Amino acid sequence: MNRIDRETIQKILDTADIVDVVSDFVTLKRRGANYIGLCPFHNERTPSFSVSKSKGICKCFSCGKGGSPVNFIMEHEKMSFNEALRYLAKKYNIEIKEREMTDSERAAESDRENMFNVNEFAMRHFEKNMLETDEGRDIGYSYFRERGINDTAIKRFRLGYSLERGNQLLQQAKAAGFSEKYLVETGLEARREDGSLYDRFRGRVIYPVHTISGKVVAFGGRTLRSDKKVAKYVNSPESSIYSKSRELYGLYQAKKAISEKDKCILVEGYMDVISMSQSGIENVVASSGTSLTQGQIRLIHRFTDNVTLIYDSDPAGIKASLRGIDLLLAEGLNMKVVLLPDGDDPDSFAQSHSTTEVEEYIAAHETDFIRFKTEILLKDVANDPIGRSRAITDIVKSISVIPDDIVRSLYVKECSRTLDIDEKVLLQQIKKFITEQAEQRAQQQARDKARESINGADLQTAAPNAAPQATAEAVASEAAAQTAATGTNATPTTVNPAFMVADRTRAGVLAPYERDIVRYIVRYGMVELPTIDDNDQPTTIRVIDYVLQEFEFDNITFTNPLYSRLVDECRALIDSDWASDRETAEKNSLEQRAKHWEEGTAEIRNTAETLELIQQKERMLLEAIDTEHFARLDRHTELFFIRWLTYSPDDDIRTLVTDLATSKHKLSKVHSKYSHIETERDRLQELLPRAIYALKNAILQCDMRLKHDSLNAAAKQGDMETVKKLMLEMADLDKLRRDYAQKLGDRVVLPKG
Ligand code: UTP
Ligand code: MN
Repeated sequence: MNRIDRETIQKILDTADIVDVVSDFVTLKRRGANYIGLCPFHNERTPSFSVSKSKGICKCFSCGKGGSPVNFIMEHEKMSFNEALRYLAKKYNIEIKEREMTDSERAAESDRENMFNVNEFAMRHFEKNMLETDEGRDIGYSYFRERGINDTAIKRFRLGYSLERGNQLLQQAKAAGFSEKYLVETGLEARREDGSLYDRFRGRVIYPVHTISGKVVAFGGRTLRSDKKVAKYVNSPESSIYSKSRELYGLYQAKKAISEKDKCILVEGYMDVISMSQSGIENVVASSGTSLTQGQIRLIHRFTDNVTLIYDSDPAGIKASLRGIDLLLAEGLNMKVVLLPDGDDPDSFAQSHSTTEVEEYIAAHETDFIRFKTEILLKDVANDPIGRSRAITDIVKSISVIPDDIVRSLYVKECSRTLDIDEKVLLQQIKKFITEQAEQRAQQQARDKARESINGADLQTAAPNAAPQATAEAVASEAAAQTAATGTNATPTTVNPAFMVADRTRAGVLAPYERDIVRYIVRYGMVELPTIDDNDQPTTIRVIDYVLQEFEFDNITFTNPLYSRLVDECRALIDSDWASDRETAEKNSLEQRAKHWEEGTAEIRNTAETLELIQQKERMLLEAIDTEHFARLDRHTELFFIRWLTYSPDDDIRTLVTDLATSKHKLSKVHSKYSHIETERDRLQELLPRAIYALKNAILQCDMRLKHDSLNAAAKQGDMETVKKLMLEMADLDKLRRDYAQKLGDRVVLPKG
């Protein structure tokens, strides 16, 4: 595969001006350092689409869309990455040169590529099995037909069947030239205790999971046995291409209908999506049986502001799902709920009704979410004043997370009516929640300064105006969801399932800490910090190198594969582009400097009267233009990763970097005695080590909790040997934790002098 040549990208990057690119489609007005306009990606009356000329990034603070010029064009013109680059090249008359990929690029690219390729192969293999073998037809195909799924839907969702016997996929994939490595990494093959491999999904019907752009990232395999001991679904494990919390089942097939109808219907399972879609309601996606995560909500939000949840009327299920929904509200989505008749789920309902009937039912039963929640919660507590007041608190809390003032006040009016409570009382309560949430945050900051940067950063990126609790809840619910998922999908591996559960939760717990560190890398990666070398001589170290060095020292890696990929790309950028990029920046800046010098000196000579005055003024001019010059270079250093990563061919990296680059980082403003406000950049030497320390500390806490659980288990079984061993290990961990705390005291990075 050919790539657009690096030099061409460099030219596009240097030439394409975000304000200019966006202005072709949006009328922009200047506001402060930025430009602002009406978002072209959703309907709005007040502008929330902001463009930062210096960062080269645009972003809608209401719907979240935006990014570099290439992102903007991709989104607005519905183009692929390469098409968008070509568009920009054409706009600026840049000649496009293509080139072969280098070996190392190919290697990095090929790991992921190979995984996608082997998944694609497996999907076709499963499809063929189902339609072209006796077993497939008799068991797999007839199962889908019995459940009322027609051939069109089978093709559209690429359904298939994995044969009961042995490791047929393994053999055929190898025969087709795929290496075992990728079959194992994608989880298509699982390993027995004796080391041998077997097809993970054998004897199951297959539901492939596609990314938003249609690549196969994972599979769900449903057993056809009613045996309770067999897990109903086996799903692909998380891998460097698959993160469960970032995908939604059916989105690839549904996205067009979602933006056309400006609405996304959310159901629970694979079958619900397929049956609804087959019956003509195509804007349907599934969260696959777990509570929604922030990442999934964002995916939906790229296409619409309107979400309708369809529930079967099982009361336990409804109650459980109520909690996570505050996240959707906090993200500014308009939420509706439809309850199906008793005993129906979306699948059975769609199978037993015509398209019109389903549409009419939805239209007639669509209830506003807050109203729905109010009904459900109040139903059980009619004669129970304490329960009632608890329910009201819960409802009011949901309202308080809604970011839009107007929407919020509409709900207050309505709830005042249904709950028969004075509007003022409700408003007061909401105000209290909002303040409380703000106060909690402030306290948290005071209590644990090390965490200050993390909470603020994550919150701001998670939901610009959301209530502070949203992020913590997101992490908690994600962790809970993952726990639930591993609990139900127990797969026959050699790993102790209890450990797996804890390990997934751990990823949830560590997520905000890791994200914070990645944010420092993206925003300040090339900035040099003062430090001392092995011989106690003052020297400097780049932020990214400092992080990597610390990670290496304690043997830390990111649990989130996207973050590892990002760091790899940063390293590659330093090798391939930093030197030439720097050279260009220096050359340009020196030209500007020369120009200012010429203009300045001409002016001085025209106006100054004495030679002495001329010399004095020229000295001042020289100082000024040098300061400017170094400030420009400094800015270049700071923006290096943002500039390049927002042009990364990796969709996930571009999105992440745009998010990180536009997040408003809350830093308690420190007015020094020179009354200058310190920025995050000024305090990097202090903040960065803290962020790393916070991560290490969180990792240790996770380890301790794990050990603690095992210790309890061992104690219960009276296994004193193990108890003793674990206690010793815990003591070691605790010592390590104290070591970290102390190390933070005498960091190698010097405090600012
Ligand atoms: P359901 O049990 O409702 O399954 O779980 P379903 O999709 O309706 O399947 P049918 O109708 O019995 O064939 C809802 C979703 O939860 C996830 C799957 O994504 C499923 O579609 N799930 C459920 C699992 O991942 N693992 C399980 O063991 C169970
Ligand atoms: Mn079902």
